[in-house]
Amino acid sequence: HIPVLCIDGPTASGKGTLATELAQRLGYHRLDSGLLYRLLGLAAERAGIDTRAPALQQPGCAAALGQLARELPLRFEGQQVWLGDEEVSAALRSEAAGMAASRVAALPEVRAALLELQRNFRRLPGLVADGRDMGTVVFPDAALKVYLTASAEQRAQRRHLQLMAQGIPATMADLLADLQARDERDRSRSAAPLKPAEGARLLDNSEQSIEQSVQQVLDWWQV
Ligand code: CDP
Repeated sequence: HIPVLCIDGPTASGKGTLATELAQRLGYHRLDSGLLYRLLGLAAERAGIDTRAPALQQPGCAAALGQLARELPLRFEGQQVWLGDEEVSAALRSEAAGMAASRVAALPEVRAALLELQRNFRRLPGLVADGRDMGTVVFPDAALKVYLTASAEQRAQRRHLQLMAQGIPATMADLLADLQARDERDRSRSAAPLKPAEGARLLDNSEQSIEQSVQQVLDWWQV
């Protein structure tokens, strides 16, 4: 039985940082499930599929995206992510990629198509998985489920710092509006809506350092 530790929560709550740190300390594999949805958003754009409403509601669009998800030509090489013969790690981090990801992620066809791919990341000695539905849908038998939150202001501020470090300009007002729109879409969709899994431990890290969050989760972690 391969242990899984899930971290779910809204956008920019620090799931990625926490999951990376935990995977490193435990010597576990890591699944960044948001990356797969971002990859699909990008792949759709490259394939000329419009993921904005109303195009997304057109008959055949969901099926085409499901098909694309099953055939994603993705490859990881160290820190690099390849989509076919294009290195896309920088493109994946853009806000546009996050928005496209959140739109395609609302489709049940897409979520079903990515299920097996995500479960294949479960390998010995263990897995730390982060996203929106790791504990509710993908790994319901996980040994520990954490639901990570922080205030919207804190999250917008973190996203701002993150983008500035990458030299990407953005205003706080735009970021706040953007993350509230994304949260709303993630929570209100019928396929795997964002919510704490049953038995999840709630962690609000608004006032915590990364190290404090890591220690809290390690305290909860018992296999
Ligand atoms: O940085 P942020 O948390 O916003 O992005 P992410 O984790 O890379 O996810 C991008 C988008 O993919 C989210 O806004 C979700 O709509 C979607 N997603 C999802 O539906 N299910 C997951 N397990 C992970 C991401």
